[in-house]
Amino acid sequence: TPPAQIRNFCIIAHIDHGKSTLADRMLQITGVVSDRDMRAQYLDRMDIERERGITIKSQAVRMPWQIGGETFALNMIDTPGHVDFTYEVSRSLAACEGAILLVDAAQGIEAQTLANLYLALENDLTIIPVLNKIDLPAAEPEKYAKELADLIGGRPEDVLRVSGKTGVGVEDLLDRLVQEIPAPVGDAEAPARAMIFDSVYDAYRGVVTYVRMVDGKLSPRERIQMMSTGANHELLEIGVSSPEPVPSKGLGVGEVGYLITGVKDVRQSKVGDTITNARKPAADALAGYTDPKPMVFSGIYPIDGSDYAELREALDKLKLSDASLQYEPETSVALGFGFRCGFLGLLHLEIITERLSREFGLDLITTAPSVIYQVVTSDTGETVTVTNPSEYPDGRIGSVSEPMVKTAILLPKDYVGTVMELCQSRRGTLLGMEYFSEERVELRYNMPLGEIVFDFFDQLKSKTQGYASLDYEPSGSQEADLVKVDILLQGEKVDAFSSIVHRDKAYAYGTMMAERLRKLIPRQQFEVPIQAAIGARIIARETIRAIRKDVLAKCYGGDITRKRKLLEKQKEGKKRMKMVGRVEVPQEAFIAALSGD
Ligand code: GTP
Repeated sequence: TPPAQIRNFCIIAHIDHGKSTLADRMLQITGVVSDRDMRAQYLDRMDIERERGITIKSQAVRMPWQIGGETFALNMIDTPGHVDFTYEVSRSLAACEGAILLVDAAQGIEAQTLANLYLALENDLTIIPVLNKIDLPAAEPEKYAKELADLIGGRPEDVLRVSGKTGVGVEDLLDRLVQEIPAPVGDAEAPARAMIFDSVYDAYRGVVTYVRMVDGKLSPRERIQMMSTGANHELLEIGVSSPEPVPSKGLGVGEVGYLITGVKDVRQSKVGDTITNARKPAADALAGYTDPKPMVFSGIYPIDGSDYAELREALDKLKLSDASLQYEPETSVALGFGFRCGFLGLLHLEIITERLSREFGLDLITTAPSVIYQVVTSDTGETVTVTNPSEYPDGRIGSVSEPMVKTAILLPKDYVGTVMELCQSRRGTLLGMEYFSEERVELRYNMPLGEIVFDFFDQLKSKTQGYASLDYEPSGSQEADLVKVDILLQGEKVDAFSSIVHRDKAYAYGTMMAERLRKLIPRQQFEVPIQAAIGARIIARETIRAIRKDVLAKCYGGDITRKRKLLEKQKEGKKRMKMVGRVEVPQEAFIAALSGD
């Protein structure tokens, strides 16, 4: 297809505003998916995505659309819609010339949509504002059309009104994509430059890489080069998705498609990287490539220790499809053998643990999420990177800095007071407040990421009846008065409960954990103190009183078989016990304490 007949676009929308439904309708109206094959949310491949109604991996689909006898190729690039995947979103946007800004006509715009809209504007995309779900009785198109028009600078009457559900307005939308979005431009004679905007692991075909051609041409069987690493591969197949993969004779300027080289690991085909011809490589890679950096760390342990090998295998498999997942083996007194894992954010963590349990049938426990702390030691002055509280160089702390994020919270004005209180209690510094419309306010805070990973989102939702939305981006790091709080059972440290917290919150954390454990750990034959400590200083204490529990006392006399049975039973119960010094703790107690049940 010549560039003049190509339009590349994506859909920017908040979760649940109807992106998948609209995409489905477009596939149907353009005829690429027959009515018979249509199933809800055609593009969301992963079960877990479908169930939770979120889009994790982006994909591209090519749709034909005719205007005035001329056929255009519309390439729709699907973008993930959550804060953790900002980098992937930015690469999808970079592959487009235009974006549909899709907003629920009964909800209005949300923080995440706003963040992605700014990203799109930075990338100079043409924005087509669209209100969706106008079939809903609660829809207020007039009100939100004005909001959108004010936001992007246009007239309310230019805001399209559609329903992905009924199909109303979708044909107009397709026309406008062709009319308003600029055709791609590039140098057809130059060495090839293709940007990878997604890379998906497929059990049968290996890695399927989605690219947007910028310059030149890529053809089947030729050798290609990944510009970030210099690695060469043979192009086994290249083509377009519509939406099933259709091999083609190659891709040229402005085209969007997929390619297969036989690599088995998405790390060999990285989002944001530039692909060029191996024989005639381009001089410069396309701008914007970075390696994904994990921001949140957590220990993942099998509840049954004998599942360790399976957990390792499962992680090895997930890594093939997820370039941002990191892990290394770790051991814990309380939890045994497991892995320290790095994630892009909390949702990423949740997705991985859920996939581990669902796709691999593993029962797991995760430790409280932690962020990356930089500690400058007082003795040697070196900088130590700490992603696990147990590595904290206790007693040698010169200074500690923690990662900060700029957060944007969009909320109805009635909740401003409550949310400001919440943000202040999480050590946030107010950066600004803006009335977005008459009822809606945007609050901007600089906040430690460590405070956000600790149930901030849940608190925000519950304090605003679900009306607030949140977005954040890294904003460097900042020194803070942080301490490590240890939890001791009879003087022995229980590593899984150590946590790095602000000094002002150390006491609250210590008492909460000590109390939880007191309630969960069964009495022993001796008294067991539970203490919370900062270094050698005890800041909180609870005591489990002693009990004399002799199972044999119940059997008077000589019924030896009964005695044996009881002993046997007791032994079985002990299997799942962990020893912390002299103290026997059922693993369930640790697990319950960690999960806050
Ligand atoms: P993510 O995949 O999580 O980003 O969600 P999404 O934006 O793709 O939303 P999805 O298409 O899954 O729609 C969310 C909900 O809104 C579903 O229950 C849809 O049935 C409903 N919905 C989508 N479009 C419309 C519409 O035009 N009208 C009505 N009434 N409901 C709609």
